[in-house]
Amino acid sequence: MNILVINGPNLNMLGIREPGIYGSDTYEDLCALIHGKCEDEGIDVEFFQSNHEGDIVDRIQEAYGKSDGIVINPGAYTHTSVAILDALKAVSIPTVEVHISDVDEREEFRKWSYVSLVAVQTIKGHGFQGYLEAVDTLKNYSKGDAK
Ligand code: DQA
Repeated sequence: MNILVINGPNLNMLGIREPGIYGSDTYEDLCALIHGKCEDEGIDVEFFQSNHEGDIVDRIQEAYGKSDGIVINPGAYTHTSVAILDALKAVSIPTVEVHISDVDEREEFRKWSYVSLVAVQTIKGHGFQGYLEAVDTLKNYSKGDAK
């Protein structure tokens, strides 16, 4: 199994960015955590982070026919991007949406997610752990026993 983990804008600033909300661990720490989990599970994992909407669309398109699952935290594009939603629909790769913070407990504008319209699951407010839960969901999904 091959999973692609996509992180959107400002997630490269983890550790610096609003630590009261996102914690003090870095993007590199996050990738190492997910990498360790995937190694244990025998899953191949690739990482992509970008601050640019079109680059994220390009990376999703590149995953067509190659990745078995996508874990995506689209950052602020969660709430605005029809283009990322359409790219995920276009490739039809099972996708789990992750938010480090609980977006439902924050500003009104964070409550709406375009990606939720296509995601097999949305995990919010579980910190970095949410990404590991997303890997488990995709693993189970590929065996045919998830949502
Ligand atoms: C986020 C929540 C978004 O509202 C925000 O724009 C982010 C991060 C999260 O992981 O909690 O950049 O997706």
